[in-house]
Amino acid sequence: PIIKMAFGLTDLEEAIAKAYGISQVIIVPGDSDTSEFTKKELGRAGAAALKKYVAKDDIIAVTGGSTLAQIANNLVTSSSMKGSWFVPARGGLGESVDMQANTIASIMAKKTGGKYRLLHVPDHLGEEAYQTLMQDPQIQEVVSAVRSCRIVVHGIGDAMVMARRRKVDDETTGSLRADGALAEALGYYFDRQGNVVHKMPTVGLKLEDLQRIEVVIGVAGGRSKGEAIAAVLKHGQEDVLVTDEAAAQEIMKHA
Ligand code: BG6
Repeated sequence: PIIKMAFGLTDLEEAIAKAYGISQVIIVPGDSDTSEFTKKELGRAGAAALKKYVAKDDIIAVTGGSTLAQIANNLVTSSSMKGSWFVPARGGLGESVDMQANTIASIMAKKTGGKYRLLHVPDHLGEEAYQTLMQDPQIQEVVSAVRSCRIVVHGIGDAMVMARRRKVDDETTGSLRADGALAEALGYYFDRQGNVVHKMPTVGLKLEDLQRIEVVIGVAGGRSKGEAIAAVLKHGQEDVLVTDEAAAQEIMKHA
């Protein structure tokens, strides 16, 4: 039965890759909504994917979130990542400290023997504050490093779950709902078809940067996130998806 199950997941990996036009899909068995073990496996598979694609002296941009925290847990010192720079993909997005991109970038660097740069940017920036921050040479330097990354590893969330977690105000939540926001990645909110309906004002990667980034790796699982993952895949900039079986079944349903 183990071999049969492995074949089943391999078929599903290929079907998703084909349906959404992505290079590689990796599926771990189970549902990380209900199994802590599966969530850890997702982290392990995410770490393995990063190790596979990393090149010498890479800049690797990472987001926050509990899934990325699991990837960080699974990284170990490796000669291939020693010269890497880990940077947060985007500035403050309203996460608790242990799940912030800055924290995760620094943990990943410590675990692999790599280096890191951080973006010290407060959450919920207004337009004026944003413009002022962007004048700061140190911020500019880190932002340009971030935007020149070769690899990005990011989480994907359900729009309403992320809005709640970030304590987004009622007015914005209402307009997200009205615009049909279903998914969230990198601080951008997407509708079912993968159109951007809202973006969080902060510095770092812009969605259009993904086009020239060589390896975009999305890591997210759990049945409840399946449709959100499908929406981000429809947006069409992922190269590699690492997910779990339950989410994969939903992703196929929404292809
Ligand atoms: C956040 C990222 O930190 O984590 C989001 O800013 C992402 O873009 C989210 O959607 C995913 O979180 P989790 O805990 O579901 O992996």
